[in-house]
Amino acid sequence: MDSSGNQANCRTRAPTERSPRDQGGELTKTQRNTLAGDLAWRPEPDGIQSLLSDAPGALALLQAALETEDANPDFRTTVARLASTNDRHPIRELFRPWLPLSERQPILGFDFRPETILALEGDLGRGREIFFGKARCSDCHRQEGQGKALGPDLVASAARYGREQLLEHIIRPSQLIAPEFRTVSVMLDDFEELSGMIRESNDDELILVDATLTEHRISRSKIIQLDESSLSSMPQGMLATLTAQEAADLLAWLVSLAPEKPETK
Ligand code: HEC
Repeated sequence: MDSSGNQANCRTRAPTERSPRDQGGELTKTQRNTLAGDLAWRPEPDGIQSLLSDAPGALALLQAALETEDANPDFRTTVARLASTNDRHPIRELFRPWLPLSERQPILGFDFRPETILALEGDLGRGREIFFGKARCSDCHRQEGQGKALGPDLVASAARYGREQLLEHIIRPSQLIAPEFRTVSVMLDDFEELSGMIRESNDDELILVDATLTEHRISRSKIIQLDESSLSSMPQGMLATLTAQEAADLLAWLVSLAPEKPETK
């Protein structure tokens, strides 16, 4: 069970973004409700977006939408459209019922066929946004100088793998793990326990990188036990909250990272 602990580490230690609210100072509950009420009359995207940046703001919008008697007929749809691209899954889901049916695509969940995604053509620009935004891939993959380099540089992966294989790696991260990304836990002779990925090793020592990207240089003579996990530190189900189209967009962008594309489809 120790590798699931690692996954939890990766997720919780990810850098947290500051919402615009953090910089502008907290709105009081009354200010939020007044703003939401005004927006219900005059739906104005910037205002709605600012409230959607945190949970209390999102709830104020929900309340305004439910309780403002003669709200602007476009209010609910505008909120739902803006919320549908929110970084946080619960906020996206909160307003999903108000998306027009034609725009309400089902999310993939945990049980889907890769063909559902492969059959769709993806949009690179949207895929890039999804990678750094709602799919949170950059919590662990550093691309274009952004994000945390816990997982491999995906430019190399895109050069190595075709579209289908890349998708396979995302759906089943533990199926094939490059040696330098295998998760190990070691017990030292002073009973200190460390876990992470082995970046380098030789007869005398190994270099272990933990979930906070700290390097530990460990002399082999101090190790009393070393267990290798067969699970990737990349969580399963990373695509679960995306629609098939969003997953196809993401995949298209990943494919496009390859310097020379041996295989585009
Ligand atoms: C919690 C950290 C974490 C998150 C979040 C994460 N990954 Fe990973 N990823 C890893 C690690 C570590 C590896 C290397 C181990 C492995 O292959 O499973 C990896 C491997 C991969 C690989 C295989 C690379 C190769 O060359 O073998 C692909 C492709 C990939 N990730 C894509 C993604 C995408 C796309 C997302 C977002 C949907 C994502 N990852 C989110 C940590 C993460």
